[in-house]
Amino acid sequence: MSPEDLQTPEQPKTPLRLQVAVDLTIDPSQILLGERIGIGSFGEVHRALWRGTEVAVKRFLDQDISKNLLDDVTFEVDIMRRLRHPNVILLMGAVTVPGNLSIVTEFLHRGSLFKLLHREQSPALKAALDNRRRMRMVMDVIRGMHYLHSFEPMIVHRDLKSPNLLVDKSFVVKVCDFGLSRMKRNTYLSSKTNAGTPEWMAPEVLRNDDSDEKADIYSFGVILWELATMQEPWSGLNPMQVVGAVGFAGKQLEIPADMDEVIAKMCRDCWKTNPRERPSFEDLATEMRSVPKAPSLAQSDSNGAIKERSRLSVPPVPVSEPRGDWEDERSRGW
Ligand SMILES: Nc1ncnc2c1ncn2[C@@H]1O[C@H](COP(=O)(O)OP(=O)(O)O)[C@@H](O)[C@H]1O
Ligand SMILES: [Mg+2]
Repeated sequence: MSPEDLQTPEQPKTPLRLQVAVDLTIDPSQILLGERIGIGSFGEVHRALWRGTEVAVKRFLDQDISKNLLDDVTFEVDIMRRLRHPNVILLMGAVTVPGNLSIVTEFLHRGSLFKLLHREQSPALKAALDNRRRMRMVMDVIRGMHYLHSFEPMIVHRDLKSPNLLVDKSFVVKVCDFGLSRMKRNTYLSSKTNAGTPEWMAPEVLRNDDSDEKADIYSFGVILWELATMQEPWSGLNPMQVVGAVGFAGKQLEIPADMDEVIAKMCRDCWKTNPRERPSFEDLATEMRSVPKAPSLAQSDSNGAIKERSRLSVPPVPVSEPRGDWEDERSRGW
């Protein structure tokens, strides 16, 4: 066809659409499996090398090619392949060979936010996780979740929790684990997947009542509380006690007296009993703009000072501190 042909009036009436077909299949022989970095409900996650690039491989263990397993993997891949956002984990491909079913994603060096916050860390790393950095992480989660909730059709995560948030070298947080997302009917009591982690679940989810995207907002509130307090949620209770306290006795996590008032209000709003009264991620992003910006201890101090200051809890912030969004000046490394 010559260029003139393209301009003739007899062009087809239907507008041309760009067709992009991406083959996500990964040949398992190209993957060099490394150590195990996580274990979850469906299987285990390994660090690996694929074509010279570090990746994470989530291997589904119960590989007896039941229709259910195939459906689960297809479902998770189907959601992930459409997601393109800096705060959502990047799917690189999938191994579809029976007996080897795996999902391959980018590798995030610092692992889960849960481990980063609640497990033993070096003094330097602790110092790096200062209030300012943690508030940027809050913004990352809000952005990633806002993207999912504004997707067409909306994606409800349903298992949002700090073990499902991953952190890269530069402390950027990304949402991962879409195994339960969207309309899948999984409840605390019916799902083995969730057993043991009711700490992030909305009361209506714990009670097996109907739930929607507002359950993600409740879970985000728990993550916000974790990032603000550096505490593990409900650390004194066993899972069933949490189900009772949150699902049936209307209990909420305790807000420390020294918590920033904007953050405290955001937590309480996210935990409203009536899901309709909880804010959206868009609302939460707006509220974050009025959180005072604490000076970054880790960046402004010499090494010695970092060590000294890391023992302090979040420093009190004068009211006159600049308030603003958390978009700018993310520092690379520390
Ligand atoms: N891309 C990754 N980079 C680094 N660690 C990861 C990655 N994916 C998963 N992990 C680790 O494995 C754990 C389980 O992964 P996840 O996707 O949540 O699987 P599951 O469905 O089994 O819960 C995470 O909490 C994290 O510690
Ligand atoms: Mg998980």
